[in-house]
Amino acid sequence: MIWTKLALRAILIYNTQNWLAINTTRKDYISVLILPDGWKDYALLDMASGEKLERWGNVVVARPDPQIIWPDTSGKVKWDCHLRYHRSIQGGGSWERIKTTPERWTITWRSLKFIIRPTDFKHMGLFPEQAANWDWIMRNAEPGIKILNLFGYTGGATIAAAKTGASVTHVDAAKGMNMWAKENAALNGLSNIRFITDDVLKFVQREQRRGNRYDAIIMDPPSYGRGPGGEVWKIEDRLHELVRSCAQLLSTNARFFLINAYTTGFSSIVVENILRVALKKGVTSGELGIKCANGLILPCGIYARWERAEIVKRSPSGPRR
Ligand SMILES: C[S@@+](CC[C@H](N)C(=O)[O-])C[C@H]1O[C@@H](n2cnc3c(N)ncnc32)[C@H](O)[C@@H]1O
Repeated sequence: MIWTKLALRAILIYNTQNWLAINTTRKDYISVLILPDGWKDYALLDMASGEKLERWGNVVVARPDPQIIWPDTSGKVKWDCHLRYHRSIQGGGSWERIKTTPERWTITWRSLKFIIRPTDFKHMGLFPEQAANWDWIMRNAEPGIKILNLFGYTGGATIAAAKTGASVTHVDAAKGMNMWAKENAALNGLSNIRFITDDVLKFVQREQRRGNRYDAIIMDPPSYGRGPGGEVWKIEDRLHELVRSCAQLLSTNARFFLINAYTTGFSSIVVENILRVALKKGVTSGELGIKCANGLILPCGIYARWERAEIVKRSPSGPRR
């Protein structure tokens, strides 16, 4: 009997790279670590003492990462790279160009192409761990459905969603980000995307008033941000309101809702709870990570997902609007 109970609690979940044994005491809350699959143009080569060494196409880059608090045991001093980002004590930082590199270049993940460009704020214009979400989005989307992507950034999730033939509305506060996302769309030959420069909350409330509906919603809220009119976004103050408003935008046959976040100190259960408050059943959550060549996993954020299939399975009355 005790063994049956233990076996029930140890849930084996397959992800494309690992079998993970997750010991849960609550069968309805299951936290899953997901790792991206399918990268050839990106690799996490090493990580230690506050820095990671990555390969973006043929360009090797060293960048700081606050999660990497363990010391170097592998000879990091010998890291050979093209570019290295140095933090400044005044805030921000700058790139040291050690070897000649192009200003921008293109990388490929499966059939998708993205423009990579080192930015002043240390980003490369893509979050490679998001490929785990892109796979999920591409499995759940289909031609003709309407998808809303909020805090769309350079369009990683937008391009993945649009590639399925869904029609995508991409919203971001920054004109520059939308320009980059448009270039990514053109690079992939996609014209089924509407780009909106707006504050996400204002846009969602406007869509509610217009009676517009979406079959799926994706969002990647930062901890802190500003809308184009200076509107303050603070995840702890606004996420619940945004998710509740978005839930009202879902169509009767809505398929999925994905929240991704990178907010230090937030458990994935926080975003799962927010989705559960809005949508009740069919929600799961977990962490995103990237496997390093040294065998360790770099934690890269959290996600919560709602899927209609789950709701239909659990509740005979179907999805809640
Ligand atoms: C962390 S990035 C999103 C990452 C991206 N979705 C991905 O996976 O590649 C956050 C984005 O939110 C945008 N943003 C911040 N505050 C906003 C607001 N109030 N309304 C709309 N967009 C906002 C920023 O311009 C930025 O592009």
